[in-house]
Amino acid sequence: MLRIRPEKLLLAIVFGAFTMTKRLCEWDDSLLIGIEELDYEHKVLVEDINKLHAELTHNTDRSVIVKCLGDVHLRMQAHFALEEHVMKENKYAFFDEHKREHDEFLEDYMDCMMKFLNGAEVSSKNPIEECLKEWVMNHITASDKKMSLMVRDGG
Ligand code: FEO
Repeated sequence: MLRIRPEKLLLAIVFGAFTMTKRLCEWDDSLLIGIEELDYEHKVLVEDINKLHAELTHNTDRSVIVKCLGDVHLRMQAHFALEEHVMKENKYAFFDEHKREHDEFLEDYMDCMMKFLNGAEVSSKNPIEECLKEWVMNHITASDKKMSLMVRDGG
C-alpha cells in the first residue's frame, strides 16, 4: 500500500492550490467566428489573458506582471490590426463602428495599465480583468461574429 507522509501531503495540497489558479475565461467552440486566422489569434489571446490572470493572482513581482500586461497589449494591438485589415479588404459595412470598439478597448486597457504602473494595487475584481473578460465574452461573441458572418457573406 502506498504511504504518503503527512508533511508531504500538506505540501502537495498547498502547492496544488497555488498552481491551479481558476482561469479567467475558457476557450470553447462557441467563441469560433469562422475565419481561421482570427480564430487562431482569439484562442492564443484567451491563453495570454489566463496567464496574465495567474500572474495577477499569485505573482508579487510587479516587473513580471508589467511584462505580462505589455505582452497582452501588444498582442491585442496586432490582432486588431489584422482584423481591421480583413474588414477593409472585404469592405465591411460596419468597419467604423467595429474599429471604434477596438480603439475604446485599447484606451481602457492602457488606462488600467497606467494606473497599475503608477502603483495601484490589484484585486481579484480588478478593472484590467473586467476589461479583458468583456472583450472575450461580448466583443468576440457579438461584434466579431457579426463581422465574420457578413464578410463571409460578401461584406
Ligand atoms: Fe477579434 Fe474585433 O476583435
